[in-house]
Amino acid sequence: MTLYDRIQETAAYIKSRTSATPLVGIILGSGLGDLTDMTEKELEIPYSEIPHFPVSTVIGHSGKMVFGKIGGKSVVLMSGRFHYYEGYDMQMVTFPVRVMKALGVETLVVSNAAGGMNKTFTIGDLMIITDHINLFPEHPLRGPNDERLGTRFPDMSHTYDEALRNKAKEIAASRGIELKEGVYTGLQGPTFETPAEYRWLHIIGGDAVGMSTVPEVIVARHGGMRVFAMSVITDIGISDVPVTITHEEVLEAAQTAAPKMAAIVADLIAGL
Ligand code: HPA
Repeated sequence: MTLYDRIQETAAYIKSRTSATPLVGIILGSGLGDLTDMTEKELEIPYSEIPHFPVSTVIGHSGKMVFGKIGGKSVVLMSGRFHYYEGYDMQMVTFPVRVMKALGVETLVVSNAAGGMNKTFTIGDLMIITDHINLFPEHPLRGPNDERLGTRFPDMSHTYDEALRNKAKEIAASRGIELKEGVYTGLQGPTFETPAEYRWLHIIGGDAVGMSTVPEVIVARHGGMRVFAMSVITDIGISDVPVTITHEEVLEAAQTAAPKMAAIVADLIAGL
């Protein structure tokens, strides 16, 4: 079965369970679940019930698609994302974005936890992603291109929607929340970077580094969606002495910053 047919089958299954027509799709990063709590939930579908979704044994916990409203707008939210380092191929990692598009989603909002390389950043900062550098070893669009899903050679010059970024900055200013901006570098992980790698990532133009987001954003742009993405800076990779990083510290920093991010994203969606 072709990718296109799998997408259609999955979308048809979801449509058989809900008449919701979400225009906004949201993918939440580690520790950033606050937006799920802010959603007026209408339906939750566990990934295990969705045809062609990866089985959850590898994820370790049960992910689900959540349908509901934020600020009066119909949204679909992925609670739990698929990372490349877990062993999924790029088509699997990005499949939910394809399904969202097939459901009618026009705007994709993505968040993540990331390490900071910009010296002006501190732990807990929120960074609007202005651009990215794709350092994943596999490209999500590799292989035969299905023109029904998008063009063979997508333009990437306006990947992170400027109007949405400006709106987010206005919202943050009115709420007294400080926002940083920068370039996200996406690597496969699961190791955090060595001190030399953080330095290199900074030299090539990166302000933050993480293990997600880039594949989903590429597929969203392939499908012609508008994209808004934000990182929580959970650790600082550049320093005079090497700093150790643990997943627990990343989660803790993300959880602390999550309410600020949720507030900005909720206002952004309400204003769409
Ligand atoms: N590197 C890669 N991924 C991350 C980091 C990091 O420092 N922090 C949170 N996710």
